Amino acid sequence: MNPRERFLRSCRGESVDRPPVWLMRQAGRYLPEYRAVRQGVGFLEMCADVERAVEVSLQPVDLVGSEAVILFQDIFTPIPAMGVDLDFAPGPVVAKPIREAGQVEALRVPDPRESVPHVLEILGRLREALASREVPLIGFAGAPFTLAAYLVEGHGSKSFSVLKAMLQKRPDDVEALLEKLTVLTVDYLRAQVEAGAEAVQLFDTWAGLLDPEAYARWVQPIHERIARALADLPAPLILFVANGAHVVDRMAVVGADVISLDWRVDLGAAARAHGASVSLQGNLDPCWLHAPRERIFEMVRAMAEAASAARGHVLNLGHGCLPDTPVEGVRAFTDAARALGA
Ligand code: CP3
Repeated sequence: MNPRERFLRSCRGESVDRPPVWLMRQAGRYLPEYRAVRQGVGFLEMCADVERAVEVSLQPVDLVGSEAVILFQDIFTPIPAMGVDLDFAPGPVVAKPIREAGQVEALRVPDPRESVPHVLEILGRLREALASREVPLIGFAGAPFTLAAYLVEGHGSKSFSVLKAMLQKRPDDVEALLEKLTVLTVDYLRAQVEAGAEAVQLFDTWAGLLDPEAYARWVQPIHERIARALADLPAPLILFVANGAHVVDRMAVVGADVISLDWRVDLGAAARAHGASVSLQGNLDPCWLHAPRERIFEMVRAMAEAASAARGHVLNLGHGCLPDTPVEGVRAFTDAARALGA
């Protein structure tokens, strides 16, 4: 079974010889070869540079044995064309946070084929590069709630209290913002699949900040809408929510093919509760990649065993690789997945 078949079959819940493996943020600063390409180039500039983006997207396959390629971009790639002045320092920083109804109204929802053609070009180039290697290509988008969190707050935050206050004080304005971002996200993911993405992941990093009731009100219907809008496409949808242990039952029913869980979730319990209808992805704590190689092998075996009650399992971390993640740990992680089939 080649990596493409293994991955796509796992997402759809079809039988495989062993779980596939890749890592969120697998192309990043923990790799010296990434830092070399990034040297002297701004992050946004690098995302816009087709040659460089193709090169670093492919690095994790050759350098650490990852079995899937995720497009190198950021969840904020399609946002400046909406009319938002955005920079990275190192996380996203919005020059004028969106807090007034007039600002929401002024936001454009451009066709991604016109506003970010380089993303589609990168996907096409990656598919060509991967054709002979039978490695799957994953596209992605930020989910509307997480994008809105940064747009309203202006930058990253522990609590996103400005956004949460706005949910209470001016729910209609947030609703209007989420509506525009939902239309954008659907268009963007559809364009990526047309351009060659074989699966797509929706990153809702901050949705887990909400209590279950607020999540049901503000987040779940958007996930349902996006899943429905992509349902006619061949590419499976992976839904990632960080800090989402309290909403796994809600993640499981929106229509995603795979739910991507962080390490606070008991994988065995999630597999028993939801594994008949949805595949699981995850969920090692990225910091555990500092463990000795033998210990990483044990943890991977334990995850695969716990998830074996689910219809499918994609080995991954519970969140992205960190800049201090040891390259040896990442290599041990992917080797451990291959050892499951031996
Ligand atoms: O997974 C991959 O390898 C693909 C590329 C990718 C990046 N960002 C590149 C990146 C993906 C899928 C993302 C998603 C992303 N970006 C999310 C959702 C996933 C998550 O991690 O929760 C979020 C919230 C962002 C926003 C963002 N971008 C932050 C908060 C930061 C700064 C923090 C950090 O890790 O540096 C970024 C910058 C960023 N995006 C980098 C990379 C490789 C670091 C850029 C650099 O300085 O070289």
